[in-house]
Order: sequence, then C-alpha cells, then structure tokens
Amino acid sequence: MNQTELKELLDSLSLKEKIGQLVQLDGGCFGAGELATGPQAKLGIEPWVAQNAGSVLNVMGADNVRDIQSRHLGHSRIPLLFMADVVYGYKTVYPMPLALASSWEPELAQRCAQATAREAVADGAHVTFSPMVDVCRDARWGRCMESPGEDPLLNARFAQAYVRGFQGETPLSGAGVSSVPLGEQSLVSCVKHFAAYGAVEAGRDYNTVDMSRWRMVSDYLSPYRAAVEAGCGLVMSSFNTVEGVPSTANRWLMRDVLRDEWGFDGVTIADYAAVAELVAHGIAANDAEAAELALTAGIDIDMKTSCYANQIESLLEEGRLSIEQVDQAVMRVLELKNRLGLFEDPYRGLAELPSPDREGARNAARKSMVLLRNEVAAGDEAPVLPLRRGQRVALLGPYANSRDLNGLWAVYGDRDAVPTLAEAFSHELGEREFRWSEGCRMLSEDELADLGDFGSVSWIQGPSPLDDAAELARSVELAEWADIVVFAVGEHMLQSGESGSRTDLRLPASQCEWLSKVIPYAKRSVALLFGGRPLELCELSGSVDAIMECWFPGTEGAGAAVDLLLGNDSPSGRLTMSFPRSVGQEPLYYAAFATGRPAATSKHSGRFVSRYIDCPNEPLYPFGFGLTYGKVEYSAPGLSCDELSIKDLIAGKRVGIAVEVANAGKAACEEVVQLYVRDVAAAVVRPVKELKDWRKVRLEPGERKRVDFSIGLEDLSYVGTDLRKSVDAGLFEITVGPDSSCGSMVEFELK
Ligand code: BGC
Repeated sequence: MNQTELKELLDSLSLKEKIGQLVQLDGGCFGAGELATGPQAKLGIEPWVAQNAGSVLNVMGADNVRDIQSRHLGHSRIPLLFMADVVYGYKTVYPMPLALASSWEPELAQRCAQATAREAVADGAHVTFSPMVDVCRDARWGRCMESPGEDPLLNARFAQAYVRGFQGETPLSGAGVSSVPLGEQSLVSCVKHFAAYGAVEAGRDYNTVDMSRWRMVSDYLSPYRAAVEAGCGLVMSSFNTVEGVPSTANRWLMRDVLRDEWGFDGVTIADYAAVAELVAHGIAANDAEAAELALTAGIDIDMKTSCYANQIESLLEEGRLSIEQVDQAVMRVLELKNRLGLFEDPYRGLAELPSPDREGARNAARKSMVLLRNEVAAGDEAPVLPLRRGQRVALLGPYANSRDLNGLWAVYGDRDAVPTLAEAFSHELGEREFRWSEGCRMLSEDELADLGDFGSVSWIQGPSPLDDAAELARSVELAEWADIVVFAVGEHMLQSGESGSRTDLRLPASQCEWLSKVIPYAKRSVALLFGGRPLELCELSGSVDAIMECWFPGTEGAGAAVDLLLGNDSPSGRLTMSFPRSVGQEPLYYAAFATGRPAATSKHSGRFVSRYIDCPNEPLYPFGFGLTYGKVEYSAPGLSCDELSIKDLIAGKRVGIAVEVANAGKAACEEVVQLYVRDVAAAVVRPVKELKDWRKVRLEPGERKRVDFSIGLEDLSYVGTDLRKSVDAGLFEITVGPDSSCGSMVEFELK
C-alpha cells in the first residue's frame, strides 16, 4: 500500500478497530497455547478485543501462525503481527548475548542474527524482541546474560550488529525511509529495555533505577541510540523508573529523547504488563490513569494488559486523550505491517525451517568461551590446557551430560538437538581415554525449592534423580583413574535470566561441597563453567588448574568446548563484564570514576582512601580479560603526533596510534588489542579508562603484526552537565593492551 491508501485505511477504521491495533495479546486469546514470560493474570477483556487485536505475543510455528492468521482475517481487515522473544537464536541457539559479546566480533553477532531471522521468519515471526542492550554493571542482576555487558561502546556496536543481522540493511525508522519494503527474510528488531534497566538498585529485578540525567546520557543511552540509528523498527520501554517515573509513562524518555532528539518514528511497545504495572508503581490510581499516562508518554502498544483495550474509549470521551494521539499510534502500527508486506501477504515468509546452522553455532560458541586460568600443574612443564594426546580424561559434574546449554531466554531452542559434553568428548576420544559421570546434582532439593514454581517455565526440564553417595564414590574413582579431570559445573539455568537476581554469586553450595571432596583426588583439573553471569570464583581458582567460562553457549556449545580443550582452536574470548572477588564489590566495572582518594595513587597514606578493608577494589578477572594458547607480546604504542589543537580536531584531524603485537608462543591465537583513553582533567569527572576501539588479530606462532588505530573528536569529547558533548584542552592518557587492567600508556595533549 502507498501512504495515501494506508491513510485511507486508517480513516475507515472504527474506534474499536483502532484500539485493537494498540493491543498485544498472547496465544491463549487466539486458541493457541500460552508461553508465559511474565506474571499470569486474567485479562478481563471482551471478545471484540481479540477479534481486533493488532499483534500476538510468542506464538510460533508455521501451522499455528497460518491457522491464527486465517481465522483472524475471517473477522478483521487487518492482518495480525506476530512478535516473539527470539533473543539469541530460534531452534538453533547461539551463545547468549553476554557470551557472544565475549567474541568482541559484532560481525559474528550480525551473522548469528541473520541466521536466526531465517529460521524464525520461516516459522512465523515478524518481530523479535531483541537486541537487549542494557548496560549492566551488576552481576547480581540475572538479566546480564541477555546483554553484551558493561561497556557503552561495546554494547552500541553489538546493538547495531544485531539490528542489521535481524532486519538486513533496510532501516525501519528515520527520515525518508517509510516506504521501502523489508527484505523477505528480515525479522523486525525491537531494541529493549529503554532505558537503563541494567542499573536496577542492588541488582534486584524490576527494582528502581535512579541516576543523574548526566550519567544516563553519558553511559546508558548510547546502545539504544545505536540500535535506533541502525534502523530498528521498535523500541520497548523498560519496567524500571527513570527519575521517579517508570519508563512506560516517562515523557522525557519516550518523547523528548526517543522521538524528538533521536528522530525515532517506529513503533514503541510497553514491556510485558508494564502499562497496568503503573498502578502497582503508584503513579496511576487505576487502569484508566495508567492507559492515559502511557499513551500520552508515547507508548503505542500495550503488551498483555487490558488497559488500552478497556480504557481508551472512555478516556477519549472524557477528553483525557485525543483521537489524534490514538491515530498516530495506530498509523505507526499500520506502517510497520505495510513495510512487512502483510497487507499483500499475511502469511509472509512461512516456509519449511531451513536446516540448522550447526557450524555457525559451533564457531560462535568457540569464539565466546573465555579461558580465565591455565596453570602449569606440579611436575609438568606446560599449562594443563590444551589437553595432551593420550591423557586419560574424566569428565565430571552436573553439566557433563546436560542438554541445558541454551540458557533461559532461548525459549524456542531445540533442546533435544543439543549434544552433551559427554557425547562431544566421546566423538573425539575412545573409551580408553575418556570416562564420565554426572557426579553431583545441579542443585540440592532446598536450592531447587528456592527457584520457585518450575511449571510456569515450561521449557525447562526438571532435575534428574541421583544417588549422591554412589555418585561421589564414582567421581573419586574416576578422578583417581584420570590424568586430568574436567569438572563441568555452574549455575542452574533458572538462576539467571529474568527474575534471576542473586545475592550470592558463588557456585551452588552443593556443587562446591562435592568439588571440595573430589578435587584432592585429581592430578590435574580444569573447570568448565556454565551460567548466565560473572560468578565469584576466588575459591574455585584457588583449587583447580584451569577455568574456562563457557556461559550458556547454545546448541553447539559442547562441541565448541571440546574443540578448545583439545587445542583444535585457541580460546579467544574476552570478558565484557568484570568478575568480582566478592559480591560486595557490585556494581563493579572498569570504567569507574576516579575518586578524590583513589586507593592506588592517592598521596594519603594509611586508612583514609577509597577501598574496602576486607577485599581489593579490583575484580578477580577484569573487563577485556581472557587467555589464549599463544603468548602475545605488545610493543609500546606510538602516536602520529603528541599534541593537536582543538581546532584541528574539530576540523576532522585524528591521532594515529600504532602498536606491534607478536606471538611468542607455540600455538596460533587471536588477540583482542584494546584501546583505552583517559581524559585527565575535564569539566566533569571522567572514568579512569574508557574503551574507544579494539582490533581482533590472528597471529601464527612467531608472527608479528602492526595494529593501527586512530582517535578523533568523538573519542575525546564527553557529555557535560548541559547534556551536550564537548571537548577540552589538556592531557589524555592512551593505553593499548590486552585487557582493561594493563597495557602501555602514552600521553597526548590537546591544545
Ligand atoms: C521481558 C521482555 C520480553 C517480554 C515478552 C518481559 O517479561 O522483560 O524482555 O521481551 O517479557 O516476553
């Protein structure tokens, strides 16, 4: 349809038809099953609402979609839009976003998103609620698994990559793009959760966020903006408050920033039940006020509540909303449907599922795993990893034979297609070299009970019954038999993800106890860690020789881990969230501000500096950290000039930075060369370090490469108290190195 036809359609709609377009219901309302991703409540809506609803939440499957759409078109002129949480894979699951970001390869995320779109579109999705790019600096928050991590720049680059991967290169928002049709296999991307949801107080899910506007603009908004600039079709509001007003009712956020400043002209949607939750937040007295606040703030679609459905009509009658407000929101929904070509083909894209992208998933998982520790065991000459040929390997632990490698937000993942570690090892090693046992439960009965009702999370399998004493005896027997023990341990999948906040970041107590009984029998030991967040690893790192963070690596995670353990490839992942020594350090992130009494460099001696009495300030494993099987040495960075005038900088001049990296090790590896900048004195405090760029380079043994960077105005400017970017004269420290805690620094002056 062209714009005129679309406008004619809008004008011809009855009020009920219009309101329907602004309502999103789940499959239960259309006779399909319900996939619960939020609290269950009876909606209390009349039949006309489902008959006129504009979109459906989390119904997938080509047959299901065809059936619901054709029944819907029996009584509605407007096809339904199918939206779903296809977050990091559909049937084929890729590493969870915090893991995939550890690759430091946004292009890889783009390829994974593209392959995900192919599968999900074939099975009926039009829109995915992804990417989630909340900056998260607190590992207590279980949803950090869905995000690229703690850094604004890194999150922004991944945000763009995911959007382009899902949607293709055709932007869905922005000036002058409104009529370009979307590619056939494109999945419209909805960036979330706008805004700053990652900063919930004390890491407790759905909790308050309160920070200065300056901080929010400096550190928290840029990833969403990057997604908008890449042309994402939708933006989802977050559950949290921003300056005392929940995002869903926050006009500054949803209108002034998103629409007026960033020029977003796509669709906005409230997160699950967030409109009705304005009442629970205490900023609306009832559903009518909630609907009024949300629509006025700029929320187009109400997900899974009856507020818009039941209240808009009377709000219009009472003059509390105008028909223009409603029309604008409806038009945006119609435009999206039009861009998808749904008026011409309501069954868009439905097809047989393409064959699973197993190789892509395995490659992505290999690049996501982070080697955190690799020591030389007593009597050996080389680190314990990679495993040596002929060694007897015992694989022990609750993840040894588990198919739960997808993590909580892979709700459509094909669990049965996930090979286990035991299967992946058996594929590579014969019985004389490899034995395995589950060893211990993932969680004790009590720990499991803490997780609440499993029933509502239907895609998770319950625990397997184990005889603890017999398993322990078998573990000890296998540990004594083996030359090296690989412990496959970690969080239960329900311990992270939405509503997965924790105040204890250690491995489950039952696993720790079992490890302490078995490790003494192991000649050499490696821990493969599964889970959705940075854990507290001081105890584990003091008792095993090697640790590899595997996260929730997805469909091909087991094979990928075995590839790395056997040295078929070198680990190359780097952390994108700091790993604490103690939960008490959270929130913990490398780009902290200098205080007036910095612990390391303060002139004060003695007690009165900014530090803990009982723990170092530094993380156990810092942002950017990860080991490889190579041994990379860095030269000191060289600058193209050591001073520059602000005038030249503004005119576009840049400072070149070159460094040489050489692999002095015996194995090929990939190095993530990281560039950080510190603005030594500015009008507002600046972080002690800020990531400005990075390069990933492959180095054969003995190979040396020059790596070039350049920094310009964007990299040297910062957000001032007037919320605008500015740049000042003065010193800058430029550090190039293998992670955020080290590297060689050179100074540069802006005059
Ligand atoms: C989550 C969103 C998700 C939505 C729909 C909410 O509970 O916060 O991330 O997209 O449910 O399932």
